[in-house]
Amino acid sequence: MKSILLLSGPNLNMLGEREPEIYGTETLDTHVSNARKIADEMGYELVHFQSNSEGELVEKIQQATDNHCGIVINPGALTHYGWSIHDALSNYQGVVIEIHLSNPNAREAWRHTSVVAPVADGSIIGLGSFGYELSIKALDNIIQRNGA
Ligand code: DQA
Repeated sequence: MKSILLLSGPNLNMLGEREPEIYGTETLDTHVSNARKIADEMGYELVHFQSNSEGELVEKIQQATDNHCGIVINPGALTHYGWSIHDALSNYQGVVIEIHLSNPNAREAWRHTSVVAPVADGSIIGLGSFGYELSIKALDNIIQRNGA
């Protein structure tokens, strides 16, 4: 099952016009395309889902064990308080990579805690769109290591 689920949380649909000095001018579609290009090259299908609702993201994670070998997730602000996302990922059987365009640790104090990081295999932060490409490579690397 070579399928990756890329999840985007609240307000990421606004990328391009949302605080470009922090998040850049590229749209979410561009980030997804960059990730999909790498995924294609590596032989993975990439399924993307964005929602501003915590519950919809939880439902996608609940369904993912049977359908996807890995999840890449940028939970947006839910990163910092979304315990239902934490719990859903905790029960997920595949590889989890947390990703952020900005570096939350270099920003306001309330962004310094991630409730997702403890249930992720790894986190990629502060590298902008390049992080999306890296996340696919990181996920594949972990899958290869686990299988070896
Ligand atoms: C973000 C960082 C979060 O703190 C913020 O709430 C976002 C975007 C990022 O990609 O840098 O919505 O996840």
